[in-house]
Amino acid sequence: MPQVTQDALRAALDTVLDPEIRKPITELGMVESATCDDQGLVRVTVLLTVAACPLKDTLTRDVTNAVSAVAGVSAVEVTLGVMNDEQRTALRTQLRGGNAEREIPFAKPGSLTRVYAVASGKGGVGKSSVTANLAAALAEQGLKVGVVDADIYGFSIPRMLGVAGSPTQVDDMILPPIAHDVKVISIGMFVPGNQPVVWRGPMLHRALQQFLADVFWGDLDVLLMDLPPGTGDVAISIAQLVPNAEILVVTTPQTAAAEVAERAGSIAVQTHQRIAGVIENMSWLELPDGSRQEIFGSGGGQAVADSLSTVIGAPVPLLGQIPLDTTLRVGADEGTPVVLGSPTSPAAVVLRGIARGLANRARGLAGRSLGLTPTGR
Ligand SMILES: Nc1ncnc2c1ncn2[C@@H]1O[C@H](COP(=O)(O)OP(=O)(O)OP(=O)(O)O)[C@@H](O)[C@H]1O
Ligand SMILES: [Mg+2]
Repeated sequence: MPQVTQDALRAALDTVLDPEIRKPITELGMVESATCDDQGLVRVTVLLTVAACPLKDTLTRDVTNAVSAVAGVSAVEVTLGVMNDEQRTALRTQLRGGNAEREIPFAKPGSLTRVYAVASGKGGVGKSSVTANLAAALAEQGLKVGVVDADIYGFSIPRMLGVAGSPTQVDDMILPPIAHDVKVISIGMFVPGNQPVVWRGPMLHRALQQFLADVFWGDLDVLLMDLPPGTGDVAISIAQLVPNAEILVVTTPQTAAAEVAERAGSIAVQTHQRIAGVIENMSWLELPDGSRQEIFGSGGGQAVADSLSTVIGAPVPLLGQIPLDTTLRVGADEGTPVVLGSPTSPAAVVLRGIARGLANRARGLAGRSLGLTPTGR
């Protein structure tokens, strides 16, 4: 029987990722010990971040599978323990890149994460649907994606992305649930049942700050924030907390909706935020004979893009026109975004196209100040 070395065990355990943090358990200091006896029986002790870790079984299974695959191993016994305070502090500090204190990683000058705030003037135009679908589509295209549900009073993201569980908390650090490969945080995960959130402005600000700073996001390519409708406290808080967030304006084709959407977009001028583009939703309904019925009129998206281009003095593109599509609504109700559930449906095709466009500009340094000062000769 071949000898099972510590190196072989370590290499196998290196392949096991913590299901929530998505980093190797060895790197996270979660493997307390791993030994092999003469019979090839391996005993592994894994330390959980918190005793109530909801993914204990996944972790046990993944460790067992990884170690069983090592030549010479006949059986695997996994014992679960819990980190002590000191070990947890070390983990938090490590996850925060050596910083023990909280800061918003996306607001730091060197951050390569593209942050998009999905905004609209009017309610019900499809911001949350757009956010959930773009997130799922971007994750499917291989990007690391997070979603902050910044609609504190009217949260709808957990249902649309099908997140049922509540986040694991490691002291003051929150591990976001993951759905369709997207890390998600919403106030809906913290209120029992379907209770309303009754808070004033400062509490909203504090909640958003916690979502951004206390949630362990890891290294994201894209962070999408689903805003409540209009130009209220949340939009201002976002501008303060993540000044480099770019705005995605959602509107319907209707003239009245377009006018309100322009106002929402114009805020970006005051807050010095960039407008990444305009998305028109509910553009038309495709009839069985292939013709299009423009239920909410036409031209709203282009009108908003043109008007915002004039206001900010730089081109603001119309990124896409999403048709009315029953499968989109059904997917939202069932927790499977239409881009994954019915990827060839009319709405999904457009949404995936918009996501591809955003993915291509992800992680770019273009348009960013490099923080260099030209030197004189
Ligand atoms: N293209 C579409 N086709 C069919 N139904 C749609 C489409 N876009 C959105 N819907 C449906 O319209 C409703 C409103 O959409 P959604 O919740 O995404 O809008 P919102 O702008 O986030 O609303 P709020 O302002 O309340 O946050 C939802 O029931 C959603 O499923
Ligand atoms: Mg919404």
